[in-house]
Formats: sequence, structure tokens, C-alpha cells
Amino acid sequence: MEPRARSRLSVTAAAVLLALTAACTGGTVQGRPGAAGLRDPYFPKAGNGGYQVEHYALDLDYDPADGQLNGTAVITARAEQGLSSFNLDLSGLRVEDVTVQGAAARFNRTGNELTVRPAEDLKKGEVFRTEVDYAGKPKALADPDGSEEGWITTGDGAVGVGEPVGSMTWFPGNHHPSDKATYDITLTVPRGYEAVSNGELRSRSDTGDGRTEFAWHSPEPMASYLATAAVGKYEVTKGRTPSGVAVYNAVAPEEAALSEGPLARLPEMVEWGSGRFGPYPFSTAGAIVLPGGTLAYALETQTKPVYPGAPADEELVLHELAHQWFGNSVSPKSWKDMWLNEGFATYAEWLWAEDHGGHTAQARFEAFLAGDTEVDAEADSDWAAFPPAAPPGPEHISGSPVYQRGAMVLHRIRQEVGDEKFFALLRGWAADHRHGNASTADFTAYAERKTGHDLKKVWDVWLYGEGRPR
Ligand code: TRP
Ligand code: ZN
Repeated sequence: MEPRARSRLSVTAAAVLLALTAACTGGTVQGRPGAAGLRDPYFPKAGNGGYQVEHYALDLDYDPADGQLNGTAVITARAEQGLSSFNLDLSGLRVEDVTVQGAAARFNRTGNELTVRPAEDLKKGEVFRTEVDYAGKPKALADPDGSEEGWITTGDGAVGVGEPVGSMTWFPGNHHPSDKATYDITLTVPRGYEAVSNGELRSRSDTGDGRTEFAWHSPEPMASYLATAAVGKYEVTKGRTPSGVAVYNAVAPEEAALSEGPLARLPEMVEWGSGRFGPYPFSTAGAIVLPGGTLAYALETQTKPVYPGAPADEELVLHELAHQWFGNSVSPKSWKDMWLNEGFATYAEWLWAEDHGGHTAQARFEAFLAGDTEVDAEADSDWAAFPPAAPPGPEHISGSPVYQRGAMVLHRIRQEVGDEKFFALLRGWAADHRHGNASTADFTAYAERKTGHDLKKVWDVWLYGEGRPR
């Protein structure tokens, strides 16, 4: 009897197993949880696995008097696997309601993760719509290098800035640069306030209850760290570049006089950049100049960089403009690839100076080798402290080696291949990855293929090498 009983039991167990396997592979259960992070080398929890966002429609109602934000985020995404649940990144705020495909979804929160469990599993390849209703008083975050990002109050207004992971303080999303999407950001604010965001202003209307609604549209893909929303008293100036790109500058009144000079050449810079790097990647350009003392840095928010008060000089405006090609259109695959943003934007400053009667890039390069601060005030910075393509940790991604030595890497390539191939490389890189993502390995492979030169020594010594190159 005993052996028989045992064999009957194992037959039953096998049947159960088979049924389970069938259910998981082709039966009613199609999904599994999406990953809670994308394992970025520096920000492992940033972003989420299992889907890619196609579009964000953010409806944000903000009251500067009490700092209250009431938001609705409609996120259209494509499932990359069967999903029983998926995560969004969100820091602080209260989630009131979540629906997926119109049906109420269960959700819970731990840390900066909002886990959504749809009523029905999502199929691989399915495009699905998630609506999150949320509210609260958003706060800023401190990042590993000590700077603040997220929702920052600016006197009687506020601004949302993201880099690297601050966007989750003001809207739920897939907050990693590898997931780019188009955006509609609609801001409703008390009458008398301006509300400014990325892209083009589709409409500005009085809601009839003492508030004004601004509908902003970004038709080109955007990484979420480049999204911005500024609410405050701003002087708005509109113009066009010679080739017709719309320019929209919003400037805090007390910064207007000092901003005029540095911003005056923006239209010309857009044209210059188009010549050097290829067509300007966006349909609009501009600037948001915050009241002074409210933010510690400038940020290349898409189409409209944010400045912490009047831009110090024209080179800063050029730097943030250059990011529209390098960083915003060609975005890093991970936060380790930061030099592809900052090294390129810094080298763009060198090129602008070279083309406009300033120091040559070669003189700049030599000044860094010599520590000559007459030529470049940054020349005595610790540009050799670590290799630009391998910052030692997340607190170093905005360090001098990423900016200055990143620019020196580009100059070393130029020395090796000559001007003609070098400028073809810059244009080709911007064109090849336009509105996409790229890594350092993508760049080094592309540079060698495009120029036909073996650049291994440049990579080994300047890009990945420890210490000060000789
Ligand atoms: N990207 C900004 C610039 O170069 C600087 C910056 C602001 C930054 N916040 C950051 C860089 C966070 C790295 C990480 O204009
Ligand atoms: Zn920069």
C-alpha cells in the first residue's frame, strides 16, 4: 500500500505543477511584477522595469500661497513584458486614486516606489493608460553631492527641476533618462501668475474662477529629469531665431536688467549650434530666469533652461543651449555617462569662444594642462581627480573631471583626427542618436568607425585612465 499511496501523491503533485506551469505561460496568469528599479550604476532604484512610457499628460494645479499641488498624471506606456504589477517613482505627496485602462487599480507605497496592481494583468506589447490622482505639498530632495532638486520654492512661486532624480517629487513616472516620452504639462495657477514649462504654449485661458490655465506641449521625447514647471511673476518676452525657432523667455522682474545681455544672443547661438552640431533638435527655445538666490545651479531643462538668477555670462547660456543637442536630444543611457552631457556642453563653450574672437580650444586645453586661470577660470580645478567616464560615485557626477576633462577628451580626439573629421563626428553623433539614448561605449565605437582612427590611447588615458595624463 505504501509505495502506491506515495506514487498517487506524486502524480497529484505533478498534475498541480503542470497546471501551474500552464497557467503561468499561456493560461489566465500572464503577468509578473515589473522591476522596481533599472539598476543604474549610481541610482539603482531610479526608473522601473517592464514598460516604457510614451506620453505623460500632467495636469497640475498649484497654489503658491500655501504650496499645495493637486495633480493628475495620465501616463500612456507600452508593456515590455506581461505585468501583474508595475512601479512608478514618486516621492512624498498623497496618492488618492489610481486607474489602469479605466478600471480602479490597487496600489501601495514604500519609500519612493508607488506599486500599481491593475485589475487585469497587462499583456506584453499592450499600450496602457494609467491615471494617478495625487495631492500635497511637494518638497525638494538633497542629492548625493548635497545639491537640491525637485520642487523648489522661489519667493512667491515655485519651480520643478529634476536632475538627477528630483522629478519624482512633483509627478509620478519612470524617472530614469533611458525612458523618454512626449509631454503635455498643463498648469493652473492664480490669476496674475505666469506658469512656464517645456515646449510650446498651446493655450492660455482664464478658468473663470480666478485662475489661469497654461497648456504646454513637448512634441519631442524628453527624459523626465529635463521636465520643468515654473510658477511665479515673470516678464515674458517672445521672439524667433533667424531660421524661425520660437523663443520664449520668462524672466523674474528683478533679474531682467542683468539678464538682457547674456540672453540677447540666444537666437544667434541657436543658429551657430545648428551649424556646428546639426539642426536644432526642438521646435522651441528660451530661458526661465528665477528670482536670485532660490536655486544653486543652472539646469538645461528641455527647450527652456532654468537659471538661478540672471545668467552670469553668455557662455553659461551657450552651455545650457549646447545641452539641447548633447544630453537632451542625445541622452545618457545611465548616470555614469554624464560626461557625454557635460564634457560636450563644456567643449561647446570652448568652440563658441574660438568662433567669436576668444581663446582657441587649443589654448584652453593647454591652459588646463598648465593650470593657467587667466585663460580659463576653471583651469586650477581638480580636473584630473578621476576619469570622466568613471566617476567614483553618484556624488561626483557633476565634478570637474566630468566637465573639463570631458571637454579635454573631445579636444584630444580633434588633435588626433583633424578638424574636418572632428566636426563631422560631432554632427554625426547628434544625428545618429537624435531623440534617443547613448552610452560611452556607443560613443567610443562610433568615433572610431566615423573617423577611421584607432583612438584606444585617448580612451585609455583620457577617458578611463586614473591620474593626470602626461
Ligand atoms: N546639468 C547642469 C548644467 O551643467 C548642472 C547640474 C545641475 C547637475 N544639477 C545637476 C549635474 C545634477 C549633475 C547632477 O548646467
Ligand atoms: Zn551642463
